[in-house]
Amino acid sequence: MSNLIQFFDHLENLDAESKYLVHKAREATTHSYAPYSKFCVGAALMLEDGTVISGANQENAAFPLCMCAERVALYAAASAHPGKAINKLAVVAHKKGHKELSAATCCGACRQVLLEFESRQKKPIEIIMLGAAGKWIKSSAEGLMPLSFGKEAME
Ligand code: THU
Repeated sequence: MSNLIQFFDHLENLDAESKYLVHKAREATTHSYAPYSKFCVGAALMLEDGTVISGANQENAAFPLCMCAERVALYAAASAHPGKAINKLAVVAHKKGHKELSAATCCGACRQVLLEFESRQKKPIEIIMLGAAGKWIKSSAEGLMPLSFGKEAME
């Protein structure tokens, strides 16, 4: 699997499906429940058959129970469409009440979960997110998670 990370200066430079998923992820931030962080995150993924599933972060007064947008979308996809591979996932974020996107790269927990989805389906997932200095990033889960822990370790 590829561990190449690509950087793009403008969203327009990404392929049409990636741009569409970024748009769907932006839409998904509408359903973010983030009264504590006030950081609204949305994720949208595309399955191999073109189905799009989205998710938004869901917070809780008991902070460790907060769930990231990426995992909401991933678990929804696995539950509703078991066995279908995920081709791409986009994640975006903005501060509550702000229109412009903030840089937001997947947290370590989401990278670990993405990696397990990727290794289960034996096919890279293209992850698209907005990094520092306004650069769009495209990478597989493996690319985002060097020296990772996986099930091979226990075999
Ligand atoms: N968050 C995500 O939804 N995805 C990430 O990859 C990073 C963080 C959410 C969790 C929490 O609701 C808020 O952003 C602040 O951490």
